[in-house]
Amino acid sequence: MCGIYAYLGPRNGIKIALDGLKRIEYRGYDSAGIGAVIDGKIECYKDVGKITALEHAIGSLSSNNVIAHTRWATHGKVTKENAHPHLDENQSVAVVLNGIIENFQPLKEKLASEGIKFKSETDAEVLPHLIAKLYEGDLLKAVREALVLIHGSYAIGCIHKDHPEELIVAANGCPLVIGVGVGETFVASDSNALIHHTREVIFLSDGELAKITPEGVEIYDATMAQISKKTEQLLHSVEEVSKGAYEHFTLKEIFEQPQTVRNAMLSRFFEEYGTVALDGLNLNVNDLLEMQRVLIVACGTSWHAGYVTSYMLEDLARIPTQVEVSSEFRYKNPIVPEGTFVIAISQSGETADTIAAVREIKAKGAKVLAICNVQGSTLAREADGCLFLRAGAEIGVCSTKAFTSQLVVLSLFSLLMARMRHMSKLEGQQYLHALQKLPEQIQSVLEAAPLIEKIAKKYSKYSDFFFLGRRYMFPTALEGALKLKEIAYVNANGYPAGEMKHGPIALINETCPTVALCADKVTYDKLISNLMEAKARHGKIIAIVHEGAKGIEEVADDVIYVPDTYDEFAPIITTVATQLFAYYMAKDRGADIDKPRNLAKSVTVE
Ligand code: AGP
Repeated sequence: MCGIYAYLGPRNGIKIALDGLKRIEYRGYDSAGIGAVIDGKIECYKDVGKITALEHAIGSLSSNNVIAHTRWATHGKVTKENAHPHLDENQSVAVVLNGIIENFQPLKEKLASEGIKFKSETDAEVLPHLIAKLYEGDLLKAVREALVLIHGSYAIGCIHKDHPEELIVAANGCPLVIGVGVGETFVASDSNALIHHTREVIFLSDGELAKITPEGVEIYDATMAQISKKTEQLLHSVEEVSKGAYEHFTLKEIFEQPQTVRNAMLSRFFEEYGTVALDGLNLNVNDLLEMQRVLIVACGTSWHAGYVTSYMLEDLARIPTQVEVSSEFRYKNPIVPEGTFVIAISQSGETADTIAAVREIKAKGAKVLAICNVQGSTLAREADGCLFLRAGAEIGVCSTKAFTSQLVVLSLFSLLMARMRHMSKLEGQQYLHALQKLPEQIQSVLEAAPLIEKIAKKYSKYSDFFFLGRRYMFPTALEGALKLKEIAYVNANGYPAGEMKHGPIALINETCPTVALCADKVTYDKLISNLMEAKARHGKIIAIVHEGAKGIEEVADDVIYVPDTYDEFAPIITTVATQLFAYYMAKDRGADIDKPRNLAKSVTVE
């Protein structure tokens, strides 16, 4: 998960590229570097640490042809030598790469046997050496021939000292977007970094290359045939990719949720019939009626959304639903019986494990519905249908608004399935009414932020937590725990409350508090009993509970009340409280909230 930015045009590309890198720094921030063609030479600056460190080193350098990179280390430690760009021995070719070259070792050994001296431990460094070796005057041809030799998923940018007006880019399994300006061209791993310059973009598909010159963009397919690709319009706004008055993107995105949840429902209600109309589903009525079972694949927070959905689809639509972690599923020998319908959930639409799982499943003939937040992403393009979250760009590395929008979109899908089977119109209308109330209910949780901040500060020095829940609150507990891990670096364990007595309760004592997610009415009394067991062992309890619940004050040390709704939708409301809890814990602990250590926004490597 690295970030690539490149520029070719009449302006100073170095400043543009550095600004562009900062906008995709959430893709990885171990080290950064820039390469530029200046007076028949390649100037290259790179170092560990954030992009700001690079700015000082570069000073007033200027170039019209620039490649830049921000790294999330895969092969090789976080060092200056391993930072990109990488060059050949004669400093003729510079390359930046996102992704993994799986067969780099044999290639490296062969090049070394021919006398090439490598400077880094990375897989990426084989590429400039291969290109330099194959180069006979045509840079595009040399890049293409080098890419034929490598296996893996990548997006690359390449420049050559003798081609000051030529920028070559290519993609295979990793995202790369070309921004078409007026007399200038921008390239980025993520369209968020292009919106400030142009809305006209070309999403490179797998195996495609582009030759960018002052005259424009030439696109070539995997057979090196020149093809024409239509430009697409970027829909999101500049405001979405700026922090505004907030201290962190993460906080801004938490506070955007009343609006993003509203957006997820916009023009998708069919109130008169107590059902929904889902644009992009791209499935006919028979597909939906013949659905015998659902298989959900996802990672991380998206897997938690899938887990909540598995309860909903079985409760509301009576459809057997299996939810799988993509990285595990893809190495099983999956059984995908007739009538299986697959839902792939991915905010970025670029998570390598989920894409690989989907490709495996499609090979077995199942239809795939993607739930994505990024227009033009790989998953959105490869699935049979795609429901977009419409949450706007999510810049904070930890997922917040995307999660609640995933739950809303999947609630709508579950409602549609239920109404196509046995749910009555009146019941459907009641569920729609409850969904309509969510934005204002989320708003009231946001208004409790000062109380949640106070509680978070009270516990911010604890280093171990349990997050407990039952039924819909169990995957919600998993998500709350992941937030605390990710941004506060706290060892938090999400667990089914009923499982505690089967071992984990051994960890409960006064140094290991429990965040209890109680907003599941069906299991509320049982959960209270579990909390009594923890309290009897001196465990402190922070309870998040629905308004009107009885008896929580006797057992909890601290209570956060949230508005009441159907159990199915309670995860959407409760999660906002756990997001704020994690945020304020992280803030009090001085963590780098928008760019937590070791993480990146989109895991485009396996
Ligand atoms: C969530 O806070 C994490 N950043 C991470 O678990 C993320 O949810 C996971 O990598 C899946 O990403 P995706 O939704 O883009 O596929």
